[in-house]
Amino acid sequence: APSDPDLVERARTAKAKLGEKVFILGHHYQRDEVIEFADVTGDSFKLARDAAGRPEAEYIVFCGVHFMAESADILTSEAQAVILPDLAAGCSMADMATAEQVAECWDVLTEAGVADVTVPVSYMNSSADIKAFTGRHGGTICTSSNAKRALEWAFAEGGPRQNKVLFLPDQHLGRNTAVRDLGFSPDDCVLYNPHKPNGGLTAEQLRAAKMILWRGHCSVHGRFSLDSVEDVRARIPGVNVLVHPECKHEVVAAADQVGSTEYIIKALDAAPAGSAWAIGTELNLVRRLAKAHPDKQIVFLDKTVCFCSTMNRIDLPHLVWTLESLADGKVVNRIQVDKETEHFAKLALERMLALP
Ligand code: 13P
Ligand code: SF4
Repeated sequence: APSDPDLVERARTAKAKLGEKVFILGHHYQRDEVIEFADVTGDSFKLARDAAGRPEAEYIVFCGVHFMAESADILTSEAQAVILPDLAAGCSMADMATAEQVAECWDVLTEAGVADVTVPVSYMNSSADIKAFTGRHGGTICTSSNAKRALEWAFAEGGPRQNKVLFLPDQHLGRNTAVRDLGFSPDDCVLYNPHKPNGGLTAEQLRAAKMILWRGHCSVHGRFSLDSVEDVRARIPGVNVLVHPECKHEVVAAADQVGSTEYIIKALDAAPAGSAWAIGTELNLVRRLAKAHPDKQIVFLDKTVCFCSTMNRIDLPHLVWTLESLADGKVVNRIQVDKETEHFAKLALERMLALP
């Protein structure tokens, strides 16, 4: 549905009043009505860099989810306020790894005698606490666009440990990257279940594994299945199946191409007119892509539609409220990571930004 013209006008007015003071970031999964007001759009890696590159903006309004706003706060100066227009915009995947669970896991690894040879690699989709854990233990953050480089760094000769990675919290990104990009066997990976004693693993299994994958996943991308791929191939002959690496391994293995949201956008820009594409990622982005490329057939990979419900919480009314409050000098919904967490989380984020 088209946006309420009154709200659009109010957002415009408040944004104009704030001028250079405000910088609005929009993740690719955001609603059209929000993307319209974003100064930049991007995947989580690009947005982290963009936030860090705007020292003159007093207010960074992050249209995305909680962990992204935390990362932006960590990468920006004390004087800059990072704002999340709806505090309930979390991420179910990030919530699957808590600081207590991860500390317990490290104890299990220590007990098994493997902590010394293990380096944590944590997906951007994790809380600041998990990023701080990662920084404290010499690890790095990665996103879906640099997971390969992060794992290459972790396993490199002369690298931090060269032996084992604890990958948090998305098992699929971890497995897909290890198998597709580093040539590991799925058997080189074990799954650590935080709800079972010792993660449900023996010391023997921990010693033999190259990748210890945390048992987390994205519920949005988890809905795509092998059936969805087979079904779309039967319906649209010659279709190119392009999926996000948060999808299950069997889906990724059956796809033609795999990549982050930024990758997906570029692949479609480069695609010839008349080509057909089935995209396995969040629906707001797929719909926008279909609209932007009327000369190509672009469909959602699954028959049932799925938005990321927490990304969708940021809507035009929340954005208007945020911008009008700021224009009135009232800072609302500020996301602020405490000093110590910030220090260690920043080490891990800076390691990511410095990846070759
Ligand atoms: P990217 O933007 O890094 O591709 O990540 C997708 C995602 O799920 C963000 O929550
Ligand atoms: Fe989290 Fe998945 Fe939503 Fe991304 S799409 S914010 S990983 S729940």
